[in-house]
Amino acid sequence: MLQQLPSLLLSWYDQQARILPWREQPTPYRVWISEIMLQQTRVEAVKPYFERFVTTLPTIADLANVDDQLLLKLWEGLGYYNRARNLKRAAKFVVKEYGGELPADYQALLMLPGIGAYTAGAIASIAFHIRRPAVDGNVLRVISRILAKKDDITLPKVKENVEEMITKILPEQRVGDFNQSLMELGATVCLPNGEPLCQTCPVQAICQGYQQGIAPELPIKTKKADRKIQDKTILLLLCNGKVAIRQRENKGLLAGLWEFPSIDEKRNKTQLERELIQQGYLVSSIHPVGKSKHIFSHIEWRMNGYLVRLNYPVPEFTWVTEEELQEQYPLPTAFKFYQQALEEDIQTSLFQ
Ligand code: ADE
Repeated sequence: MLQQLPSLLLSWYDQQARILPWREQPTPYRVWISEIMLQQTRVEAVKPYFERFVTTLPTIADLANVDDQLLLKLWEGLGYYNRARNLKRAAKFVVKEYGGELPADYQALLMLPGIGAYTAGAIASIAFHIRRPAVDGNVLRVISRILAKKDDITLPKVKENVEEMITKILPEQRVGDFNQSLMELGATVCLPNGEPLCQTCPVQAICQGYQQGIAPELPIKTKKADRKIQDKTILLLLCNGKVAIRQRENKGLLAGLWEFPSIDEKRNKTQLERELIQQGYLVSSIHPVGKSKHIFSHIEWRMNGYLVRLNYPVPEFTWVTEEELQEQYPLPTAFKFYQQALEEDIQTSLFQ
């Protein structure tokens, strides 16, 4: 049933493929960076990050030697920061073991930090034309629908099975384009969440899911556990034109990134004022700056923030100007609402 897939998809891909920076020049390095960025992040969001990243760090050796703060700054906003740290680790290994060029070998790619079966297959096929499948969530969805398969795609065995099926139909030529055409179909036509655009689909004629009228209900996925809710009180502590930030622990969520100090519980203004004074903070004023929430994969932060002016800085924090914060310190997207509030305060000095 899948035999016709390569020819149908490749001719569609030739006409419909999006023009993307890493497709124009598919060097191993560029394919690698783009594929890592595209994990969990949409193509449109990735584009500017990709251009900035490969312009700032044009070679694998540059990536191997990059300062950690600059690396995280280049990644700021993309989330899942371990992806960036693994890139640097892998680059160091590639410089040491392979003279700074990615190896044209699937198994060797698989050994590198942050590179799993999908990414190794994508780099091998797109950059080196090696006949390997690259099965991501898009491809699992497309294949589940074409074959009207009701297996749970979160099971490793189901993924391995799809990899085997695709391996059998990989074309002799243009294997990278074929892999990308499968992903492209998933990203632009065979859309998730019950919304496939079957009327414009180039493989409609061979799609069992379409013929049985069940394409929108596929694939089957077991539900993830609900996210934990974490309340937070965010403190924008200001003193002498500087704001307090601190570095997060080197492990766990947002490891090693910077943040505004916070309390892991709700506080109203009166409670907060009392608590800060009790702890010896010389508070001159407190103003609420509003609520914001941020959703991570396993946890959701429900934040409420206050701008607190102090008459004396607290030494345990790092005190920085707004420009220093913007230019030098990687601050996760979760705090952007409060960074914005800070900028607005500085521009208008409403709370002086
Ligand atoms: N998603 C991840 N990698 C992709 C690629 N190379 N083409 C289309 N969608 C993708």
